[in-house]
Amino acid sequence: MVKKGRVFSGARPTGRQHLGNLLGAIQNYVALQDEYDCVYCVVDLHALTTLQDTHLLRSNTYEMVLDWLSAGMDPDKSIIFVQSHVPQVTELHTILSMVTPMGWLSRLPTFKEKVRQQPDNVNYGLLGYPVLMAADIALYRADTVPVGEDQVPHLEFTREIVRRFNSQFGQVLVEPQPKLTATPRIMGLDGVHKMSKSLDNHIEIAATPEEIQKRVMTMVTDPARRYRSDPGNPDICNVHILHQIFSRTPGRTDEIAHACRHAGIGCVEHKREFARDLAEALAPLRERRAEFERDPDRIWDILADGARRAGEIADQTMGEVKEAVGLP
Ligand code: TRP
Repeated sequence: MVKKGRVFSGARPTGRQHLGNLLGAIQNYVALQDEYDCVYCVVDLHALTTLQDTHLLRSNTYEMVLDWLSAGMDPDKSIIFVQSHVPQVTELHTILSMVTPMGWLSRLPTFKEKVRQQPDNVNYGLLGYPVLMAADIALYRADTVPVGEDQVPHLEFTREIVRRFNSQFGQVLVEPQPKLTATPRIMGLDGVHKMSKSLDNHIEIAATPEEIQKRVMTMVTDPARRYRSDPGNPDICNVHILHQIFSRTPGRTDEIAHACRHAGIGCVEHKREFARDLAEALAPLRERRAEFERDPDRIWDILADGARRAGEIADQTMGEVKEAVGLP
């Protein structure tokens, strides 16, 4: 099959993935695999810009890739690898940094945000973060980059750097297009903040049915509904919103919503049903995960093969880049 083009996406190694990761990124990565030639990267170097616990990089990479593969990302279809295993990206980063005006970097909202978050660690790598991201995308000649809203400024930046490089040195690099992923904002157990591991308001996709049940029982529902006899508002209930995604029975969540509005079902009862459905929906992922866990080396073998394949593309790009720039 002729593919539509090349997709590149990177994700920081955050360890075990949660429902927000699954619905916001992973499912999309899986879906793109048949239509595009996909390159998926664990951006461990990017993680160094903000990470204190660098000793966790290895296990976080392993756990994240394990979840990726369990969810259907397929090394036979896509290149799945670790950023630092193909060091050419750091070379391209250096070359691209020479066509990057400092002002562009310091004005990026993402940089300003990081400065606010970690005022005691405003390192040079943090400023150069978008240059490294541009190097990722350009090195693998991606024309399509699936991103969420928050990464749009970085993608725009990448396009500008690619244009500047090409106008100075010739048409060598590919200008990528963002592919905005229309995913609902998945809220955490608190129902207020976006689901995130750092807020500990998440449900892991590898969670056991018991763990799922435990987490779901702590979920915040309609805060105005105080008693079982009060009518509830399912539209603002996070249990209902997530249940609509993971329900196993067509029409069932409409029934529950109706019952909720008339105090015909209680939050506890609804949570039990949602937890059961979620555990069932995630069962195939858990089974595949267990399968991979039987051979821990397999993940590293897959990543080594991915790095080899990514390295071939990288070598070709770097050959052309160096020649265009005039490096002897
Ligand atoms: N900056 C991205 C994030 O924080 C991760 C990333 C690094 C990336 N390189 C990339 C995303 C290249 C898309 C393409 O999520």
